[in-house]
Amino acid sequence: MENSDTQGLSGKVALITGGTTGIGRATAELLQRAGARVIVTGRNPETLASARRELPEDVLVLEADARSLSDATRLAAEVERRFGRLDILFLNAGIAQLAAFEAVTEAFYDEHMDVNVKGVIFTLQKLLPFLFSGSSVIVNTSVADQRGTSAMSIYSATKGAVAALVRSLAVELAPRGIRVNSVSPATILTPIQAKFGLPPEVAAQTAAHYSARIPLARFGAAEEVARTVLFLASPAASYITGVELPVDGGLSIS
Ligand SMILES: NC(=O)c1ccc[n+]([C@@H]2O[C@H](COP(=O)([O-])OP(=O)(O)OC[C@H]3O[C@@H](n4cnc5c(N)ncnc54)[C@H](OP(=O)(O)O)[C@@H]3O)[C@@H](O)[C@H]2O)c1
Repeated sequence: MENSDTQGLSGKVALITGGTTGIGRATAELLQRAGARVIVTGRNPETLASARRELPEDVLVLEADARSLSDATRLAAEVERRFGRLDILFLNAGIAQLAAFEAVTEAFYDEHMDVNVKGVIFTLQKLLPFLFSGSSVIVNTSVADQRGTSAMSIYSATKGAVAALVRSLAVELAPRGIRVNSVSPATILTPIQAKFGLPPEVAAQTAAHYSARIPLARFGAAEEVARTVLFLASPAASYITGVELPVDGGLSIS
């Protein structure tokens, strides 16, 4: 992609939560190439270090735990100090572990809700003072919020919660000229699959099961979600708010 501002992103300030790996990282690279000034957050010291090493030098990599309100407050202060505003906010940080419903513990529930729901809510709330008319918020939901998937009840519930949040905030923030949308991926190859906690043979069976049901007959790449985020963030999507856009090779309609 050229940096000729064909997407209208030159000089825009973009923050991506969970931008150290996977979809968030691919989005950071794409937005940076499109001319945006990019900030990414993460929590794990190892992935933070590799992101600092491997992302372009002008991408700012900050430690901020999505579960922590004080980290969100600190992040907002950093954005204010360095840039004074935010044009694009991609609320992407998320976790997904599989558990049969009977095996769900309070700690498992709290961890998923804290990262996937509370993190989205309070990161947006603390950054909202720096989002002005024309800015774009994109939440990473999941096809799992529409489709029943065994062992994914808690994860699906977290994504359903933020999908509902997107619709409400799209209406509430529209008078301020802020658009709020979501991307809804499925079967995108990222480090998340290795974190499901499945034994390798079960992971292979699950992958085969999903591949057979995807109309486009392949898993997706993080870059393919990144391109959708770029579209929703750009002036090309200026009349789009409150939508949940699947990026799933057709899985959700098959
Ligand atoms: N891959 C898919 O097929 C798929 C499908 C549907 C939805 N999604 C959604 O896409 C988003 C990104 O997932 P991915 O597939 O790209 O997986 P990933 O590579 O595991 O990325 C997750 C990102 O979130 C960050 N993160 C996790 N917990 C965090 C916390 N407490 N505070 C700050 N950052 C935290 C991770 O950073 P650390 O390394 O620091 O933990 C990492 O940067 C998630 O919301 C996921 O639910 C993915």
